Amino acid sequence: MESPSNVLIFDTPEQLALAAAEKFVEYAHDATGDRGLFTVALAGGNTPMRVYELLATDRFSNRIAWPQVHLFFGDERCVPPDHPESNYAMAYEMMISRVAIPAKNVHRIIGEGNPTDSARLYEEQLRTFFAGLAWPRFNLVWLGMGEDGHTASLFPNTESLKEESRWVLTTKRPQLEQDRVTLTAPVFNQAAHVVFLVTGKEKAARLAEVLHGPSGPDRLPAQLVRPVDGTLEWLCDREAAAKL
Ligand code: 6PG
Repeated sequence: MESPSNVLIFDTPEQLALAAAEKFVEYAHDATGDRGLFTVALAGGNTPMRVYELLATDRFSNRIAWPQVHLFFGDERCVPPDHPESNYAMAYEMMISRVAIPAKNVHRIIGEGNPTDSARLYEEQLRTFFAGLAWPRFNLVWLGMGEDGHTASLFPNTESLKEESRWVLTTKRPQLEQDRVTLTAPVFNQAAHVVFLVTGKEKAARLAEVLHGPSGPDRLPAQLVRPVDGTLEWLCDREAAAKL
């Protein structure tokens, strides 16, 4: 079946990462051009690592007005900011520590401490930053997809999928019982651009279900992401797209 126009398939993860980095530059240019700021919610996990690494290279970094960029996180594991599991630690290592972004422009989720307090604090910070808006409108949201169809820390068959008013929640990664803090689906759906990054053959079956299967967002939380006034793009490598 022909993939919808919003699914872009790349021969290799490297080509996907290069295209994703170009999109970051493009969307940053569009946003900083007319409103002066570029607000991004970063994805965690492994897939975006190379994108962040590329963004820190001269090829891309010199084309980004970092003082106008504000980096947020789509979710965080409840661990310290220097922990190997921390999404902040990964983004800091691969990109933030290597580019001229002012520290005040990096808005990390407090992974250490009480998850409920961290979620409440992050929502307060977002409501302050996006003051006056019923919902935050990120210029760009990066997302990944787990083999179970989760995205950010919105896991299958959890109450978090039904949230309609809060911007930030605590969740638990199933099996691991790992505490998480996550933005909610309504927040992602207010973004101007949402880009999923999906690679690897282990995700091929689930990706086909999410994109072409029947609607079942409780079982496939990635299906919840449908921007109400924005674009949705899926950047996949050939392995992940093998069943599309
Ligand atoms: C996280 C992410 C999560 C991730 C997917 C895919 O904190 O882990 O928010 O949603 O994007 O699990 O992870 P990989 O990119 O490592 O496959």
